[in-house]
Amino acid sequence: MATISQPDTHPAQAPATNAIIRVADAHKYYELGETRVHALRGVNVEIHRGEFVAIMGASGSGKSTFMNIVGCLDTLSSGEYFLEEIDVQRFSKKDLASIRNKKIGFVFQGFNLLSRTTALENVELPTLYAHITHAEGQRRAHEALELVGLGERKLHYPSQLSGGQQQRVAIARALVNRPAILLADEPTGNLDSRTSVEIMDVFQNLNLGGLTVVLVTHEPDISQFATRTIEFRDGRIRHDTPVKNRPLASEVLKNLPTLED
Ligand SMILES: Nc1ncnc2c1ncn2[C@@H]1O[C@H](COP(=O)(O)OP(=O)(O)OP(=O)(O)O)[C@@H](O)[C@H]1O
Ligand SMILES: [Mg+2]
Repeated sequence: MATISQPDTHPAQAPATNAIIRVADAHKYYELGETRVHALRGVNVEIHRGEFVAIMGASGSGKSTFMNIVGCLDTLSSGEYFLEEIDVQRFSKKDLASIRNKKIGFVFQGFNLLSRTTALENVELPTLYAHITHAEGQRRAHEALELVGLGERKLHYPSQLSGGQQQRVAIARALVNRPAILLADEPTGNLDSRTSVEIMDVFQNLNLGGLTVVLVTHEPDISQFATRTIEFRDGRIRHDTPVKNRPLASEVLKNLPTLED
């Protein structure tokens, strides 16, 4: 017997998209005295749980503006932003800070570590603002440092660590409150090419563990370690492409010379 498919008469009840990030018709203006910069000009994008997205695009194309919105550091001038289907666009500054603490881990180009503080203490810091005990905070800090392969360097100060190791500390710090999303704005911008691939290895492993990762990079080679690339141009998304045949950073590392070579 033939079945007759019913037209969807209830679009308002369509299943949730299950997007962890959903941005619709997003505009961002910066007011600078008399001038107004239109940094995002109608951005539409959905990112799903477990994706690893690389954001590319020329300087000034709106990448950091987009990341700051997604990371709840700033709000849109108009448009919609749903984080785990929560309409954060309507949140107060205080509520934004609170959801940011719970859901978002940030990594930047400069590692922004406290220099007079050990790796362990740097990683532990964000747990002081989370509602967990000191003992639990310490346990998580140890765990996060193990996860990024720095178990042996917990008591080192930043000046006693290489750039790549410092970035690993920053990644551990971003993970310590167990965020839903890791946002990284040019995390390899200050690192040599081998160390950059090492950091991509860390990101690929975290992503394989289920973490959603969004990374900004200027380097096409680095973007290929992601599962999807999005290219910004003039405040809009120009290309949005899945990565085919992406390399495993751990394999690429086998063929890259080490410092000793
Ligand atoms: N706080 C701000 N106040 C005023 N204008 C800003 C501000 N932040 C960014 N802009 C402007 O918005 C536009 C987008 O900047 P954005 O930092 O998002 O670019 P980007 O793609 O991250 O560039 P880069 O690759 O150089 O980091 C640029 O024209 C920039 O000058
Ligand atoms: Mg930027």
